[in-house]
Amino acid sequence: MKKIVVLSGAGISAESGLKTFRGDGGLWNGYRVQEVATPEAWQKDPQMVLDFYNMRRREVANAEPNKGHLAVKEMEEFADVTVITQNVDNLHERAGSSRILHLHGLITRARSSVNPDLVQDIGYNDLEMGMKAEDGTQLRPDIVWFGEPVPFIPEAARIISRCDALVITGTSLQVYPAAGLIDYLPSNAPCYVVDIDIPYVPSLIHLITIEKPGSIGLPEVVKQLRKSFS
Ligand code: OAD
Repeated sequence: MKKIVVLSGAGISAESGLKTFRGDGGLWNGYRVQEVATPEAWQKDPQMVLDFYNMRRREVANAEPNKGHLAVKEMEEFADVTVITQNVDNLHERAGSSRILHLHGLITRARSSVNPDLVQDIGYNDLEMGMKAEDGTQLRPDIVWFGEPVPFIPEAARIISRCDALVITGTSLQVYPAAGLIDYLPSNAPCYVVDIDIPYVPSLIHLITIEKPGSIGLPEVVKQLRKSFS
């Protein structure tokens, strides 16, 4: 079976009602990254950080996967698919995708303040001050913050380096190291980009851009890839 990698970002969940980070109405217009998404913020004002992510978690609880997530799941009918997402929501899971790598963590999980491997599932419950991990430290969201290492990058790079097609969707490609993963795409593999505002993609030989929302553009990619892979 041919191998497809879908590299997704906040835009794929926009039509499910979840805010993106950049652009008009984006989360980073209402919040300063440094105050809610860094280890320094956690040191300085953990309550503010918890409040920010508690709000995000409640929004995820009330959101549903959209046609874009479902199209990604549909690719499994004719290819071996890995979703590499920068999103911390669980909408790819809820759409039924089988293999998902969360580069920046998952909002329904919490972890120890000191040990990134001490992770637990918290579902849609709020995290409060005083809630402790097994090692006795305060539980924090299992989110990769700015300034922290992104542990799955080597694995993601390996998977992309072996794929037959890459689909990039809903990401502005402004955050590294995630954005740098494109460099690992084999030169003969096509790269589809589905976005309402196509981001800058370093020159690739087989670049196909579809300037549409995920709910419309991703089903089109499914059609094209189904045809070329079967
Ligand atoms: P951004 O907010 O930077 O980019 C969202 C992208 O989605 C933009 O290219 C939009 O044009 C596009 N978009 C919006 N609505 C869309 C739709 N309906 N269909 C398709 N595309 C649409 O989000 P990310 O690139 O995911 O990290 O941001 C990357 C990282 O920066 C996040 O994981 C987060 C953030 O700070 C951390 O918090 C560590």
